Amino acid sequence: MHKDVESVLISQEKLENIVKSLAKQIEKDYNGREFIMVGLLKGSVVFMAELMKRIDLDFEIDFMVVSSYGSGTESSGEVKIIKDLSVSPAGRDILIVEDVVDSGRTLSFIIERLKNAGAASVKVCTLCDKPSRRKFPFVPDYCGAEVPDEFIIGYGLDYNEKYRNLPYIGVLKRSVYS
Ligand code: IMP
Ligand code: MG
Repeated sequence: MHKDVESVLISQEKLENIVKSLAKQIEKDYNGREFIMVGLLKGSVVFMAELMKRIDLDFEIDFMVVSSYGSGTESSGEVKIIKDLSVSPAGRDILIVEDVVDSGRTLSFIIERLKNAGAASVKVCTLCDKPSRRKFPFVPDYCGAEVPDEFIIGYGLDYNEKYRNLPYIGVLKRSVYS
């Protein structure tokens, strides 16, 4: 275990099972539809790479870079689009892939934006959800695991751009950020 990790919250084995089960649900729901899977960079890379390999359908992938966090553990309160989709979402079915939903600000903003741009449908698949932290009403369509109000890292999730490479999801030691 990494020295900055307090405890392992979701092990590698559990993550594998979560991804398999989410992929099955998506496969069933999107069977016969041509959707675009949109990863929110950078947190979703590991999850999305594993997820897409397990979905036996024809679909495109794309990425968006949005920032709502500064460099700490609290959201800065403002969502900025750093990199937009490379194709128009008009008339398309969009499946957003996210690492963790916290206040719900990022996803509320993005869903609204994609709908305004004429997307036929917008659904969200998140690996983790912290429902107790919600400030903007939002319920993900697919959720891997509900997690407590702790700062988590690994499997794509970072603190100050570090720890994304950990193969499990762990709770970050408070001494690292306080
Ligand atoms: P929201 O807009 O408040 O829902 O924030 C969602 C974004 O905050 C996610 O995409 C993550 O990048 C980041 N975030 C929230 N909680 C955590 C965490 O515990 N660890 C790492 N990143 C987090
Ligand atoms: Mg993120």
